[in-house]
Amino acid sequence: MGVLICEGAPGNAAYFVGRTYQQERQLRNEVLLRPAGIPDFGWEMFDREAHHFVAVDGAADGAVGQVVGCVLLVPKEDGGKLIQMAVDPRQQGGGVGRLLVDALVARAQVLGLGRVYCDAREKAEGFYDRLGFHREGDWFLEAGIPHLKMWVESAQYVPMGGCSL
Ligand SMILES: CC(C)(COP(=O)(O)OP(=O)(O)OC[C@H]1O[C@@H](n2cnc3c(N)ncnc32)[C@H](O)[C@@H]1OP(=O)(O)O)[C@@H](O)C(=O)NCCC(=O)NCCS
Repeated sequence: MGVLICEGAPGNAAYFVGRTYQQERQLRNEVLLRPAGIPDFGWEMFDREAHHFVAVDGAADGAVGQVVGCVLLVPKEDGGKLIQMAVDPRQQGGGVGRLLVDALVARAQVLGLGRVYCDAREKAEGFYDRLGFHREGDWFLEAGIPHLKMWVESAQYVPMGGCSL
């Protein structure tokens, strides 16, 4: 796997007009929005305040890579919210998702966001559980899909993908 994890920070205007962000948006359409019946580009209301982490495949040796995974960190008063977690189906199960969360939690720590939390889709609950997230509360419906709040203390998160900021 020749995947690089890159970050597009809020306020970085260049990121939002670049090719990487356009690929990220398409990946989110394909992996998250269309399967949930949400219109393309229909969940971008937090994009400008979020840190964007993207996994770029084939970017070694100066080549132009392809975005194969993404996740967003939205700073909130009560911690950092992880949203829009997606990995290209052809790359799922290969560790890309973990690399992205490793980078996101590392950034959360740098930003002083003590807790990282997310609304986990039913099918992804096992993924967050594997990464050490805890379950909180009851299942609820969002976009017709069962979700569960899950969280981890950023200082207690154990990165296993080998990524640090
Ligand atoms: C959920 C998702 C992001 C996981 O990414 P991934 O790259 O496939 O995950 P990884 O390969 O990094 O997996 C890390 C670990 O979690 C496990 N895991 C991954 N997905 C899992 C799942 N759905 N259930 C249980 N365990 C899972 C892996 O086996 C691996 O375990 P290991 O450390 O023992 O090898 C990806 O499958 C995906 O994009 N799914 C569709 C969109 C989605 O549901 N997004 C989440 C919205 S809340």
